[in-house]
Amino acid sequence: MAFDLNGIDIHTPSRYAHSFPWAEWEVLRREAPVFWYERDDIEPFWAVTRHAEVMVISERPKIFINGGPRLRLALKGETELLRGGLDSFGQSRGWNPQEPPDLTFMDDPQHREVRKHASWAFTQGCMRSFASHFDQLAAGFTAEFLAELEQGGEVDFVRHLAAKLPLAAIGEIIGLSAGDWKRILVWSNAIIGEVSPEHVLPGETLLQAAERFMNEFRLYLEELIQAHRKPGGGPSDFVNRLVSATVNGQLQNDQQLIGYLFVLIGAGNDTTRNATAGGLVALLEHPEQRDLLCANPGLISGAVDEILRWTSPVISFLRTATEDFQLLDKTIRAGDTVCMFYPSANRDESVFTDPYRFDIQRNPNPHLTFGFGAHFCLGTNLAKAELRAAITALLPVLPRLKLGGMGHRIPNTHVSGFAELPVALA
Ligand code: HEM
Repeated sequence: MAFDLNGIDIHTPSRYAHSFPWAEWEVLRREAPVFWYERDDIEPFWAVTRHAEVMVISERPKIFINGGPRLRLALKGETELLRGGLDSFGQSRGWNPQEPPDLTFMDDPQHREVRKHASWAFTQGCMRSFASHFDQLAAGFTAEFLAELEQGGEVDFVRHLAAKLPLAAIGEIIGLSAGDWKRILVWSNAIIGEVSPEHVLPGETLLQAAERFMNEFRLYLEELIQAHRKPGGGPSDFVNRLVSATVNGQLQNDQQLIGYLFVLIGAGNDTTRNATAGGLVALLEHPEQRDLLCANPGLISGAVDEILRWTSPVISFLRTATEDFQLLDKTIRAGDTVCMFYPSANRDESVFTDPYRFDIQRNPNPHLTFGFGAHFCLGTNLAKAELRAAITALLPVLPRLKLGGMGHRIPNTHVSGFAELPVALA
């Protein structure tokens, strides 16, 4: 397909409502892998679309910082996610407007210190100890889903299955009560702007409902933190350790702890849900791969990695250059913004043989779905453990499933995937 590079659109959220801009990214990788992207409705940025340059940027956190003015794409006039400044909730508590909302906005040395207060709970070893529990949860959720399918008609895979395990799993790790999972799901969806009409009160706009959910979520976390600050601590080991951990010799305050729990609970929900739903679509659209996996469940690890490469639920993250830097034939100037497109890096033909082939036996599979370097996804092992449990539980049912209508994708340039995915029994 012929494209005028100055006419392509890879920045408008609605462009992502039907599929990712694969053809546009392919042209960029081939003709302009470091491309100065200027459009009327967005501040300009360098679009970086190849695997090698995403790595070059990610492994230089001093030159390409997270703590600059932009971390996610936002159209002019729109507020970037979590950048709204202090709202009435924060103001009423005297929060510091300069405080980074969470660790993704921080740089070293603060970032390294803050990150280690949670990373201990997400190691491979910790995940192995949760594995059989995740298997049980996944089996239970899949049985409920099957029971609904057996009543006839189409059932939304996202809501009735894919959304459940990510929340239950992070809830178990943090030590949240199972009775709270449902409302936490509603709240954490609101962070990414997904508010379902059934949760909106009479006379309330969607925006007002989203604000109410954000406040309810923060109030819930505030009470959780306070309960764990009491002498002797609270019921959750994880929260006990978090409230007593110091950064630069000081305990973290409520604002910092709420931000931390907020990102830990929020970051793994829509991402893993999208990977699960996109993984189901990939397996059903490639029946030979589905049959191979069903006949050889031992291929699950490779299948999980290929699903992660294939679905790439996090589309982009931005960095700000702190000094001039030569990237290929382009000079990135100090203060410029670079935008890394992970799904494009995951289709880079110079790294992946036949990148548009879904192949659960792909080896090696050095995908960048979880980013790279200092900010490499803290929940990588958890996300993989969840996907492994979810897909394994589905295996006995997979040959009986078929895709229903088209589904409905999330129009977003940061995290995207299926908001709704109707499936039925074949
Ligand atoms: C398929 C699921 C997931 C995907 C695709 C994903 C992807 C990513 C990506 C691309 C980044 C940024 C990496 C970078 O800047 O180099 C990130 C960071 C992060 N992710 Fe995930 N993630 C997933 C699941 C999870 C889960 C389950 C958690 C739960 C704890 C989580 C927590 C985080 C946190 C806290 C960060 C910030 C790390 C930092 O700034 O140091 N993610 N993730």
